[in-house]
Amino acid sequence: MAALEAVKFVKDNDIIGLGTGSTAYYAIMEIGNLVAKGLKVQCVPTSVHTENLAKSLNIPLLELQDVNAIDVTIDGADEFTTGLQLIKGGGGALFREKIVASLTKMEIIIADGAKKVELLGKFKVPVEVVPLALTYAIQQIEALGGTAELRKKSGEVFVTDNRNYILDADFGLIQDPALLAEQLNQIEGVLAHGLFIGLTSMIIVGHGENTTVYHR
Ligand code: A5P
Repeated sequence: MAALEAVKFVKDNDIIGLGTGSTAYYAIMEIGNLVAKGLKVQCVPTSVHTENLAKSLNIPLLELQDVNAIDVTIDGADEFTTGLQLIKGGGGALFREKIVASLTKMEIIIADGAKKVELLGKFKVPVEVVPLALTYAIQQIEALGGTAELRKKSGEVFVTDNRNYILDADFGLIQDPALLAEQLNQIEGVLAHGLFIGLTSMIIVGHGENTTVYHR
């Protein structure tokens, strides 16, 4: 329901950012339906996975590096506050998601209500790290009071679309996400982290047949 509500903001001739994850999937499917019925949009995917899904639906795509501005992006989140702060990157697509969000005029997050929190941090903060900087980044996360765990999938080190690693960093409940975001940005070798602060225009939360909207 949240995905369908979000797609109502998409208009003919828009450039649309396509999120990644099991919630964004529903929005991409709906955009695919509308494109098949004649909607004229061009889309920017936030991951290889989303790119392949969009291609399978014949959704016209643009390369991220060729895009100056994106009208609307619809993406998911792992945690959100009603103040529109997020943790993203559970699927490992945080870097492209953040570039797309930063280029976007209206960033719409869709989620189920179980992801709403008072304070971010129960979900570990994904931090994408260039492999050579792994040990240094772990040291720096620990110096900030956190612990860092190298993400693995099926027993193998998880590698992002950008050929990097993810550290899932636990800082406990985060009192000042904007400060932590800045501190993580300062670590050499960190490409991106999953704290999305000041990037979201609206969060649409689905419960059953209903939705609740939080916005700026
Ligand atoms: C992908 O890297 C993430 O940021 C997803 O947007 C986030 O993990 C939400 O995914 P789900 O909709 O699958 O929970």
